Amino acid sequence: MEKLVIRGGKKLEGTIPISGAKNAALPLMCTPLLTDEPVTLTNLPRLADISTLSDLLNHLGVTITIEGGKGGKIRGRSLTFSAGNIADTVAPYDMVRKMRASILVLGPLVARAGEAIVSLPGGCAIGNRPIDLHLKALEAIGAKIELENGYVRASAPEGLKGGTVRFPFVSVGATENILMAAALAKGTTIIENAAREPEIADLAKCLNAMGAKITGAGHETITVEGVEKLHGCTHDVIPDRVEAGSYAVAALMTRGNILLEGAKAEHMQAALDVLTEAGAIVSEEENGVRVKSNGHLGGFNIVTQPFPGFPTDMQAQFMALAAVSDGASVINEAIFENRYMHVPELSRLGADITVSGSSATVRGVDKLVGAPVMATDLRASMSLALAGLVAEGETHVNRLYHLDRGYERLEEKLRQVGADIERVPT
Ligand code: EPZ
Repeated sequence: MEKLVIRGGKKLEGTIPISGAKNAALPLMCTPLLTDEPVTLTNLPRLADISTLSDLLNHLGVTITIEGGKGGKIRGRSLTFSAGNIADTVAPYDMVRKMRASILVLGPLVARAGEAIVSLPGGCAIGNRPIDLHLKALEAIGAKIELENGYVRASAPEGLKGGTVRFPFVSVGATENILMAAALAKGTTIIENAAREPEIADLAKCLNAMGAKITGAGHETITVEGVEKLHGCTHDVIPDRVEAGSYAVAALMTRGNILLEGAKAEHMQAALDVLTEAGAIVSEEENGVRVKSNGHLGGFNIVTQPFPGFPTDMQAQFMALAAVSDGASVINEAIFENRYMHVPELSRLGADITVSGSSATVRGVDKLVGAPVMATDLRASMSLALAGLVAEGETHVNRLYHLDRGYERLEEKLRQVGADIERVPT
């Protein structure tokens, strides 16, 4: 086990390279299941979740080769995925329970092989996270769904057929699953109330490069004209807007000045707007987004919503910012039912936070004081690291495996801009 030791008080200044997006890479890594030709993904981040999904893909019969060439440490990795034939259509519990995004193999498997048996992912720290919308959407395009012994079995021996999918509320994963499955269905599928996150448009771009016929991705209605067969392609993963937003908070909290190299402002406008309200000066430059402090930190209000609203994946990070901003901030977590696990840990550092239902009121304090804290989930762990950057004295962030799921080389990137941070064995 390892922990982060952070000595707070340093102003962060310089450039942080933003890695490829975890939440784009995971669905993109499932597209090779749809074709017998190789798919190469470039700018993949080096993250635990990518390795976890690679293990599952190997189990299903996908061979994965590392492409050499440029890229190196700054650019992500290039991997080629080849699913010449599907060796197994079962995604077992012991693999799926490690990462719920494994459910994204369901749609591609049933579309390509006519069957998929995938363990129900189970809940996680931030909520019970059901998959009912994924299953109803697949049924709408002809899949037969059976649940038994904690597994879902989707089958379509005669193939999938186009239909209309109406989501009662937005689901990123369900939109991704049906988008991939519908690409090989016979006929046209209309997806209504689709998720509009940048990762959806990136997935559609890759599928279209494979020969799919998808229009409207990024908008609330997506049309998919099914095709017989898909071919291989090479696709570059978009930058990680959540990683970029997390480091933008670090710049503001430490009253620093950071260039988020490779970040795209249009992927994170809602978060940048709140940062500006809190005291940031945000500017778009040729190779990224610059965030610097105007010298004052003021409170703000947030309601988490599907894109283009304020992203739930940045709620915990912004709560750390609110903890040291003047005045009171009100945060409403409207997407997940239990995404305040970072509150008791932030309170150990001296934050003044009151939670009532889905709403948290944060009263800014003059200073936080370092202490040992425990990460509980991916974004909560980043929230604690951010608080440690400004807390007086030493903050030890334990259970780093949560952080390593979504942040590549965190301590290296932060040290590069002046943070006093190191990773030590516990
Ligand atoms: C994706 O999860 C992201 N993960 C999450 O990021 C992100 O928080 C979430 O979208 C919302 O933006 C990946 O992309 C791998 P949803 P997903 O389906 O697809 C409920 C991170 O930190 N729901 O949009 O699972 C669900 O419980 C992770 O990187 C159903 O009720 O999220 C939640 O309350 C955490 N039934 C809401 O909808 C369903 O069938 C939104 O979930 C599906 C979802």
